[in-house]
Amino acid sequence: MEIFRKRPILDYRHRVSSFWSYFRSKLVDYAHFFYILMRFQFFRCLDFYGTVFRFYFKNHAFARTDFAILSKYWLDSPFAISKRYLQLKLEPDVHQYGETPLLTIEKIAQKANITERDHVFELGCGTGRCAFWLAYFRACSVTAIEQIPDFVDFSNQLVEKNSFLEGKLHFIRGDFLSTDLSQATVIYLYGTKMTNSQIESLIFNLNKIQLGTTIITVSYSLNEIIAESKNHALLKEYFAVTAKFAVEFLWGKATVFIQKKLQ
Ligand SMILES: C[S@@+](CC[C@H](N)C(=O)[O-])C[C@H]1O[C@@H](n2cnc3c(N)ncnc32)[C@H](O)[C@@H]1O
Repeated sequence: MEIFRKRPILDYRHRVSSFWSYFRSKLVDYAHFFYILMRFQFFRCLDFYGTVFRFYFKNHAFARTDFAILSKYWLDSPFAISKRYLQLKLEPDVHQYGETPLLTIEKIAQKANITERDHVFELGCGTGRCAFWLAYFRACSVTAIEQIPDFVDFSNQLVEKNSFLEGKLHFIRGDFLSTDLSQATVIYLYGTKMTNSQIESLIFNLNKIQLGTTIITVSYSLNEIIAESKNHALLKEYFAVTAKFAVEFLWGKATVFIQKKLQ
């Protein structure tokens, strides 16, 4: 009898305490999400003002191009365009889009020592802001590959409007996992949402690039992916990391790896 009287009280207490722990954990989740969102918007503003002061005054043609890109994607953001494209492709993860801030690409270009003699291949160029920045401020040739047609079409329209860029900057619609990358002296990849098997396919594609080509990746080095791969023995490409440093992205800090193709 004693047992029967106590049970409902225990159940009730248990339910109340599990409700509070559930509520607390949800509250922590929402607070974290809110923090990320605020941080993202704050750094977006900071990046915009930084870009204006650092680059727009120096190069008015770049300012016009970059402002045209920002205006074009003001209401229909690149994040939404990318999400719609990935939904149509029935991709399980549709939140793959991200951007390298221009102040960050400047730092990366300095560390990688990109000069006007280089031919940079940007793998997955998104709206093309980095590709335009590289062509204007480093005066190098740039081939920017992107799968989303809207991005490529608008970038090509901007190239056509600017004779300075003709023959220097090319936007190609395609899959960088199967595009010929052999003309590259520098490859830039910001693909933090790529799966290991996609990166492995890319490493196979890097088979044909010239020795000494610089490959820049964000958040992981190619050797880390090779080490984790089941095809470790097959991936005979070897890369030497020559520099590794932290830079700011809108969502937080990330490590950039600069590596050279050795064999
Ligand atoms: C994270 S965004 C980076 C955009 C830009 N590189 C930057 O740093 O600001 C990755 C882009 O790569 C594109 N992408 C992903 N996989 C691709 C593939 N296999 N071929 C071509 N583009 C791809 C996506 O559509 C997206 O626009």
